[in-house]
Amino acid sequence: MKEKILVTGGTGYIGSHTTVELQNAGYEVVIIDNLSNSNRGVLDGIEAITGQRPTFVEGDCTDLDTLSRLFAENPGIKGIINFAASKAVGESVQKPLLYYRNNLNTLTNLLELMPSNGVKGIVFSSSCTVYGEPDRNPIDETAPIKPATSPYGNTKQISEEIIQDYVRSGAPIKSIILRYFNPIGAHPSALIGELPVGVPQNLVPYLTQTAAGIRKELTVFGDDYDTPDGSCIRDYIDVVDLARAHVTAMRRMLENDDTDAVEIFNLGTGRGLSVLELIASFERATGVKVPYRIGDRREGDIVKIWADPRLANEVLGWKAEADIDDTMRHAWAWQCRLSE
Ligand code: WQD
Repeated sequence: MKEKILVTGGTGYIGSHTTVELQNAGYEVVIIDNLSNSNRGVLDGIEAITGQRPTFVEGDCTDLDTLSRLFAENPGIKGIINFAASKAVGESVQKPLLYYRNNLNTLTNLLELMPSNGVKGIVFSSSCTVYGEPDRNPIDETAPIKPATSPYGNTKQISEEIIQDYVRSGAPIKSIILRYFNPIGAHPSALIGELPVGVPQNLVPYLTQTAAGIRKELTVFGDDYDTPDGSCIRDYIDVVDLARAHVTAMRRMLENDDTDAVEIFNLGTGRGLSVLELIASFERATGVKVPYRIGDRREGDIVKIWADPRLANEVLGWKAEADIDDTMRHAWAWQCRLSE
């Protein structure tokens, strides 16, 4: 009998790639998604890759009755991976209440329903954004949490605290909190990938749309920072590597009774790359030139941040493996498929 996992936000970018890796690892997946930032076609892509169509429930996790019904109609869910959240930093500044309501009510609903439905563990999708601008790099899990610079980042910090407090209150559940660095790329099959809505805010989708001629040119937000080539540095992690970390985390929670009730891991490669280095990687990998200009700095940008992934490597037993040029090739293949 396959262990059943609930993936909230499972038709989204990281959720869909994680569903594929969960199915590859032998889990049965139930997805709930309100399709606010994705579409049903993603289910076809997942099925084309794995041969298994996940159970899909269209619904909003901020509605407790919807979630209660889902657990009643899909008995035996042992674990949850919670991706369902609004995640655009800029939008969160404009619409803070939408972010607090959506991201925090989703989490509290899930936590409330876990004990009575026999759900043992929840993997929470957090972000390196909780660290703000690091005092030093690479950054490990003991680094101080800095005051959030956006409501989005604040929902991640508050969510981590909600989980800690709920477990401390004696709730019979476990949690693994995964702090992502910068997820990029697409499945090698080019059957699933990132589906940005409107003008992409993130670097790689804007870059691939520029390479495809959808955007006229990429603006590099500043090259006068205190970095070797002047552009900002990030730890770009392949989305399939990231997805596999969730499977490892879920297996650790469900199969180990001797781990701490709450564990936190940075998910990064440990390698910092600048914006200009990422552009160079894309052009090297694909042979496609990316027209770009140097523009003004973007308000609120972190100058440099990359992970110390040793805890995830040594304790969680996961390590990022993808080569950045391969990741760029997969991102381009996905963009080409979208542009077909
Ligand atoms: C990366 C670098 C930009 C676009 C955000 C969120 C974070 C997480 C990941 C959800 C920066 C530069 C970008 C462009 C550019 N989201 N850039 N031109 O800001 O590191 O992180 O996404 O969990 O919480 O904050 O990612 O891709 O927006 O930017 O020069 O058109 O690319 O200045 O240096 P970021 P990003």
